[in-house]
Amino acid sequence: MIDVARVTYRDARAEDAAALAEISRATFLATFGHLYTIADRNAFVAETYGRKLQAAEIADPEMRHRLAFDGRDVIGFAKMGAYKLPVAAEGRRVRELHRLYVVEAAKGAGIAAALMEWTIATARGDGADALYLGVWQGNARAQRFYARYGFEIVGEYTFEVGAARDPEYVMRKPLA
Ligand SMILES: CC(C)(COP(=O)(O)OP(=O)(O)OC[C@H]1O[C@@H](n2cnc3c(N)ncnc32)[C@H](O)[C@@H]1OP(=O)(O)O)[C@@H](O)C(=O)NCCC(=O)NCCS
Repeated sequence: MIDVARVTYRDARAEDAAALAEISRATFLATFGHLYTIADRNAFVAETYGRKLQAAEIADPEMRHRLAFDGRDVIGFAKMGAYKLPVAAEGRRVRELHRLYVVEAAKGAGIAAALMEWTIATARGDGADALYLGVWQGNARAQRFYARYGFEIVGEYTFEVGAARDPEYVMRKPLA
């Protein structure tokens, strides 16, 4: 079990790309791997969570990453930035929480909560009047977590991984 008092947080740096790629890959596979064929999920993971792409995303000024550490190990992260969901957003200036992943041992421990609080504060600091996210419709735990922060379902879309077509909800939290 994680000793919550020892967990530290900081923004991602270039040298975190490999650790970010690894936790992203492992958490995605543990949470969603069963939804896809092995070939589809391997292709998706290689394309989406490669170290080079993570390095490019860390360097992208439109993206912000906050990491949670247990000692030197990354145990969770939030990725927040420009709005990219495939549905029209409502708001003068909006932000999207692209990923919020914590490792199994960190679930229910308040690590995701700290990352969410950072996300909300950072979006507000960016002058955003709404924060959006996309979540798989079968991910009841995540939806319940988001509802705690005032996110509401405002739309739906389909997320493609190889041959799979996942039904997703769009959730929105007003920040004003
Ligand atoms: C989603 C995630 C960030 C939430 O963080 P967490 O620390 O697990 O969240 P918490 O335990 O504080 O809250 C989860 C809520 O879901 C509830 N819950 C737990 N297991 C559940 C389940 N199987 N079904 C439905 N609700 C569940 C908890 O009781 C809690 O609700 P409550 O606050 O009303 O009691 C984390 O679980 C995670 O990283 N999951 C894997 C990756 C993922 O799914 N990311 C989100 C992608 S959109």
